[in-house]
Amino acid sequence: MNKVIEVKNLTKTYKLSKGKTLAAVKGTSFDVYQGEVFGILGPNGAGKTTTLEIIECLKPQTSGTVTVLGFDNLKNPDDIKERIGIQLQQSQYLHHLSLGELLDLFKSFYSSRDVIPAKSAAGGSEPESKIKDSRFRGNDKMQLLKLVDLQDKVNEEFANLSGGQKQRFTIATSLVHEPKILFLDEPTTGLDPKARRDMWQLVKTLNSRGITIILTTHYMEEAEFLCHRVAIMDEGKILEIDEPKKLIDKLSDTTQISFFTDQKLTADFFSSIAEVKKVHAAYPKVILEITSLDKISAVVELLKQRGVAFYGFTVKTATLEDVYLDLTGKEYEE
Ligand SMILES: Nc1ncnc2c1ncn2[C@@H]1O[C@H](COP(=O)(O)OP(=O)(O)O)[C@@H](O)[C@H]1O
Ligand SMILES: [Mg+2]
Repeated sequence: MNKVIEVKNLTKTYKLSKGKTLAAVKGTSFDVYQGEVFGILGPNGAGKTTTLEIIECLKPQTSGTVTVLGFDNLKNPDDIKERIGIQLQQSQYLHHLSLGELLDLFKSFYSSRDVIPAKSAAGGSEPESKIKDSRFRGNDKMQLLKLVDLQDKVNEEFANLSGGQKQRFTIATSLVHEPKILFLDEPTTGLDPKARRDMWQLVKTLNSRGITIILTTHYMEEAEFLCHRVAIMDEGKILEIDEPKKLIDKLSDTTQISFFTDQKLTADFFSSIAEVKKVHAAYPKVILEITSLDKISAVVELLKQRGVAFYGFTVKTATLEDVYLDLTGKEYEE
């Protein structure tokens, strides 16, 4: 697979007042491959935004190297910036411009480089023709608004949009120059559940169109649902990188079964099933940890065979939250 981002031994130390310093990123390395949704998951203050902003060429690192689409972030920031789309954690736009006008404005920022200057004989001064030529052609603008489900709002102002609509419009502005990579910093923070699901759908749609997406989130569920691979970040370090499912599978005893019984049971009762690793039997509740999901039915069969009545049977498989707890020893706070 093609690497589109390569981060090696990245550190960032902020200078604070009175000569103090703060190490926000402490030597992280990772690669992002073409076509994937790559997530950086971690609590507030983990260093996610700092990492993203360095890759986006918005601030320099203290040490380490960053390569985006083959370009070095310190040597060739302009080459990177014209190939990536950035959604910041917060955005402000000019007042009194409609969404359509704002998109034209954003498009003009990017396209002027490609426009051949108009000859003086053709009339029209150069800057004017640059802006004119850089406007959307045909239906492109409407298609972009349709993509983010805001086609009805082309004449509306940003201030009059809901939270979810604002986030989606911000993504539209970051797509005007058809970037290869899109950066989303906490795209669903502060959104209601419906708006969050709409945003997830949009991320999936954009990715299915071939855009590589790198996003940060502090929502476990979001990382598990959206990301092909997740880097778990805490206190400036990346603790693990893998597919969510693999991270979960790496934990031993990944599945917990619990139920109530009408009789007292001991650990020996389950000795015929090798995959039952832990038994916690405190009548009337029994908790088992099993290493294979397939063995759930074997447990049920055993209870039936021995005539043990049971109720309140629940199965809890591990989530990324358990992975985080396992890696850091800390409860995850959203
Ligand atoms: N411009 C800055 N100056 C000083 N400290 C900063 C600055 N930006 C972030 N920090 C600090 O760096 C750490 C990581 O912040 P950040 O990268 O924003 O984390 P996250 O996005 O995971 O919440 C935090 O302790 C934060 O307070
Ligand atoms: Mg952040």
